Amino acid sequence: MPSIFVRKLNGLLKTELMGKVIHYHEEAGSTNSVLYRLAENGASEGTVVAADMQTEGRGRLGRRWISPPGVNLYMSVLLRPSIPACEAPLLTFTASIALLETMKKTGIREPLIKWPNDVVIGDKKAAGVLTEMKPRGDRADFVIVGTGVNINMTAEAIRRDMGEASRTATSLMEHLGREVERAKFTADLLLELEAWYRTFNRRGKASILGEWSERWGARGKRVKVSLEDKTTFQGIADGIDGDGRMLVRKDDGEVVTVVAGDVNTL
Ligand code: BTN
Repeated sequence: MPSIFVRKLNGLLKTELMGKVIHYHEEAGSTNSVLYRLAENGASEGTVVAADMQTEGRGRLGRRWISPPGVNLYMSVLLRPSIPACEAPLLTFTASIALLETMKKTGIREPLIKWPNDVVIGDKKAAGVLTEMKPRGDRADFVIVGTGVNINMTAEAIRRDMGEASRTATSLMEHLGREVERAKFTADLLLELEAWYRTFNRRGKASILGEWSERWGARGKRVKVSLEDKTTFQGIADGIDGDGRMLVRKDDGEVVTVVAGDVNTL
């Protein structure tokens, strides 16, 4: 029997592709992992896996994604783009734009993108994207786009559940001062994702990188970069290159290309 969430979502969906098939779980390990298995068994493009809670929610750089029940959105969408494997990270950028636009539609005034995959409201993270790709030779076989959005978590719950990360986390409800209907947010997000995926397919990666840059909070600002090996440096966030890697100009003029790490404005 479909859950109330799925019934509501089906009633609100205006997409042609995204969410035509929805697998909903009261509890999943990670929706990305569940969808990955479905994709390997031939699931069609646009298939969605969503869960009310995750026990093994995953974030970027091997981090945990805290996924309590009843309040947030944990959703993965299957894409089968005809692209070289090396272009798959561009779908992270595509999804971040879709997330930001959905937040604006929900009433959030100035959401911004934090490189590479976060959507922040006033410097605090409200959502993230984890994209995982299966290659076939040098092409992408499929791409899983996982999005986690803190929707109705209270500040107390964020402090209680998120540990160290709670200092830099927020939710849509905290900003709007009211609850957000999760099914409506999900339907809006799938519609935005469909539109921006179409833009990616039709107008290509330069167009997505341009749109992403316009929404990027750190553009031209002084930033601190923390790399995975724990080394740090500062500089000016100059831009991103054609593959979405971040370019930071250090004070001595050297431009460093950042592939992975954390970048915070100062
Ligand atoms: C990040 O900001 O580090 C990315 C977080 C992505 C979390 C989502 S929740 C749905 C999907 N399933 C997962 O295990 N992770 C993504």
